[in-house]
Amino acid sequence: MRHLLTGFELSQDEYLDILETAAAMKKEPAKFNTVLAGRSGAIMFEKPSLRTRTTFEIAFYRLGGHGVYLDLQNGELGKRETIADYSRNLCRWVDCLVGRVFSQRTLEELAQYGSVPVVNALSDLYHPAQAMADYMTIKEHIGAIKGVKVAYVGDGNNVTNSLFVAGAILGANVTCFSPENCSPDAAVFIKANEIAKKNGCKISVENDISKLKDFDVIYTDTWVSMGDNTPLDTVRKKYMPYQINNNLVEQSGAKIVMHCLPAHRGYEITDEVMDGPKSVVFDEAENRLHINMAVLAKLINA
Ligand code: CP
Ligand code: NVA
Repeated sequence: MRHLLTGFELSQDEYLDILETAAAMKKEPAKFNTVLAGRSGAIMFEKPSLRTRTTFEIAFYRLGGHGVYLDLQNGELGKRETIADYSRNLCRWVDCLVGRVFSQRTLEELAQYGSVPVVNALSDLYHPAQAMADYMTIKEHIGAIKGVKVAYVGDGNNVTNSLFVAGAILGANVTCFSPENCSPDAAVFIKANEIAKKNGCKISVENDISKLKDFDVIYTDTWVSMGDNTPLDTVRKKYMPYQINNNLVEQSGAKIVMHCLPAHRGYEITDEVMDGPKSVVFDEAENRLHINMAVLAKLINA
């Protein structure tokens, strides 16, 4: 049985297979409408979502299966009953667990005590399906993933970690530009870096924004992630040099601008860039659907 908990568990061939399947599903969705006939999944969210929730539900529907949404925003997993018992119950009814959780540990426990694939729909540490949709979008717009130069600019977070993991496995060069003490997770970086070295690509972390030059892609995300109640305005000064505005896009040389969304316009990205000619943010959002279809089909039918 296969899970998608971190993104590290899949090989380069498996990533490429998911990306190719997603592209085929995007082109001719009707061809795949019985792939998950009679199968179902529980879609559990401890945090808000627009894109991830909608695309996982629609992904089940488009594949002929059914996704049951379980709203956990008013009651974290493990409060009403143990996570182990929760998982043991669900696995008697459904073929997959999709979870957006505060702690990566919760997903690990669901997988440990359950008997069906568990898919990470965002945790404190990773957002693996997002990264797959991101590299699918890069392939569509730049024409390649191997050797592409991606600059992630802003807060080093779950999205950054997953861009490193998937980038290292797929052979992309990824640099995170962030303020001091806002770097992505060191343990994830070290592990991804080992893979990058084997695959002949480079991942790195940089504080100095003046080094943002000669990139193909520039990418950002919120300066304050869900679960952190710090008001955005209190961190504005620290992150402002990393705001993606027209000047920074020009300096970077990037051909496309990406954002996982939701965007905080006027903070990590300006209106002029988000609505400008290089922005591919809504293609990226659309690709969440096709990738989720490919991920569910691969894991549930493994
Ligand atoms: N990018 C993303 O995961 O968006 P949601 O939080 O709306 O699901
Ligand atoms: N880093 C953000 C991503 C939202 C999709 C968060 O965790 O809130």
